[in-house]
Amino acid sequence: MIEQGLPLALRPLEVRDAEVIAGWAADPEFCRAADWTPGLSFVERRRFHQRLIESPPPGLIRLGATHAGGHLVGYVDLHGDQPDRRDLGFVVGERGNWGRGLGRLAGAAGLDYGFGELALDEVWAEAADANQRSVRILRRLGLRETGRGVESMFLGQPTYYRQFAITAEDWGRVRRQ
Ligand SMILES: CC(C)(COP(=O)(O)OP(=O)(O)OC[C@H]1O[C@@H](n2cnc3c(N)ncnc32)[C@H](O)[C@@H]1OP(=O)(O)O)[C@@H](O)C(=O)NCCC(=O)NCCS
Repeated sequence: MIEQGLPLALRPLEVRDAEVIAGWAADPEFCRAADWTPGLSFVERRRFHQRLIESPPPGLIRLGATHAGGHLVGYVDLHGDQPDRRDLGFVVGERGNWGRGLGRLAGAAGLDYGFGELALDEVWAEAADANQRSVRILRRLGLRETGRGVESMFLGQPTYYRQFAITAEDWGRVRRQ
């Protein structure tokens, strides 16, 4: 069952958020799990995220995920160039915040936004099989597995992507449960 009245909200990212996002990379284990390029300085990362916020590449909608007190705890991506279908991604920014349900709340908020604001028909997502947190979130949100994606690496281990999707109708059903 998906918790109603989510204690997590999405909002447009602002330039000052680049500093917070770049700060998450101070933890090399986070970078490895999120597949962020290793070895960049704080300034390089801040510049990179600032550019993404100021002029995102075509097709990318990235929203900040805020928790109690408006604190930025992650972000949600809805990516793609199809009018009715986008790819969902999510990040919770500090490992100390993992395991509290924020990832699932961020995923749910992304689906609400995709099917609500963007009026999508379908949202799809991919997660590395070895990234069990992500796989569990997608399953718990009611996405059905649709296929096997490419071979990949996760935390230095060979793995492969599992592909998932959910329709607007099915998300409505999950929300009503
Ligand atoms: C994936 C990610 C968003 C999860 O965030 P989170 O806040 O820890 O997520 P949740 O607290 O909602 O937990 C998700 C699930 O992982 C489970 N989990 C917690 N610790 C775990 C562990 N060590 N191993 C496996 N699963 C674990 C939780 O029990 C939960 O499953 P459940 O709801 O069935 O019990 C976060 O780890 C992250 O940002 N990773 C880097 C980016 C990434 O991989 N994004 C996903 C790809 S789009």
